[in-house]
Amino acid sequence: MDFRSPQPIIDALRERVEHGIFGYTRPPEGLSVAVITHLRDEYGWSIEEEWIVWLPGLVTGLNLACRAVGEDGDEVLSAVPVYPPFLSAPRNSLRNLVTTHLVDDGDRWVFDFNGMERAITGRTRLFLFCNPHNPVGRAFSREELSTVAEICLRHRLFICSDEIHSGLILDSDKKHTPLASLSSEIAAHTITLLAPSKTFNIPGLGCSLAVIPDPGLRGRFCSAMSGIVPSVNVLGYAAALAAYRDCGAWHRELLEYLRGNRDLVHQAINSIEGLSMHHLEATYLAWIDTRKSGLHDPPLFFEKAGVGLSRGSDFGDSGFVRLNFGCPRAILTEALDRMAAACNTIVS
Ligand SMILES: Cc1ncc(COP(=O)(O)O)c(C=O)c1O
Repeated sequence: MDFRSPQPIIDALRERVEHGIFGYTRPPEGLSVAVITHLRDEYGWSIEEEWIVWLPGLVTGLNLACRAVGEDGDEVLSAVPVYPPFLSAPRNSLRNLVTTHLVDDGDRWVFDFNGMERAITGRTRLFLFCNPHNPVGRAFSREELSTVAEICLRHRLFICSDEIHSGLILDSDKKHTPLASLSSEIAAHTITLLAPSKTFNIPGLGCSLAVIPDPGLRGRFCSAMSGIVPSVNVLGYAAALAAYRDCGAWHRELLEYLRGNRDLVHQAINSIEGLSMHHLEATYLAWIDTRKSGLHDPPLFFEKAGVGLSRGSDFGDSGFVRLNFGCPRAILTEALDRMAAACNTIVS
């Protein structure tokens, strides 16, 4: 996002910088408790301190999950479109990627559960799951999550649930449900990846965590880290503690602002001929359908008009572009105006 981080985080970083000694470190006192309290209060999910594994990034976690489960040549399932590292992590880890497609039911993006079952083979070991979903902006319901988990468990798949966007539920009548909170059996087969980075705009500080209740799975995950993954740095830890403990008011204000941006994007995009998008329940990312625009290369076309969008093909679907609306409204308005004006030139 383009927003300044909450003042309590900036103050905590100042204080840590003033300390003046920046050696290797362990999580600061109170950080695990802050995470445990946050997960309990926000989502009703009770976790134990020893289930937490600190990580310098979530993409690292996706790659480690692929290495912690199964063997070389096994398969990892992802549901496309999806954040590009979900598509590259299996290959990086000498696993084969298999995919299922989210489908458009006319109002929103949903799982094709039959398609998901058909994609699973005897060698599929892991499902990489994104909830809330980047890029389609869904906050999956308890029923959808239960079905996803039921299919995975019935086929003996482990699940890596990337919940980095869990603090960004925009619909006031929805709540994030951690997949692993559904049952202890699901928890025992799940690696949940979390971070304060997206919600509080501190991804550059590199502090994330995996929650892995099952000791065997946690052991394999930690073995995959050994000698390769560096520990989290002193500033990342200091920022994470302040984020989880002291930034509730900032967070509520952020969600209010992002809701306004989301509504603006939805209205503007759906009134441009050839472009459309569904209502977004979560995230600050809009997944825009360009298939009726007649454009040969939509990202290039919009870039020439002065708007930088992410290329849908990187997410597994070239008929779309992704717009990040985590920015001041004036910039967003300007971007949407430029997109409308550029599209008008092809229509007229
Ligand atoms: C779903 C998802 N996972 C992971 C990341 C990146 O995480 P990190 O920067 O901690 O590697 C992002 C960033 O956009 C994301 O959207």
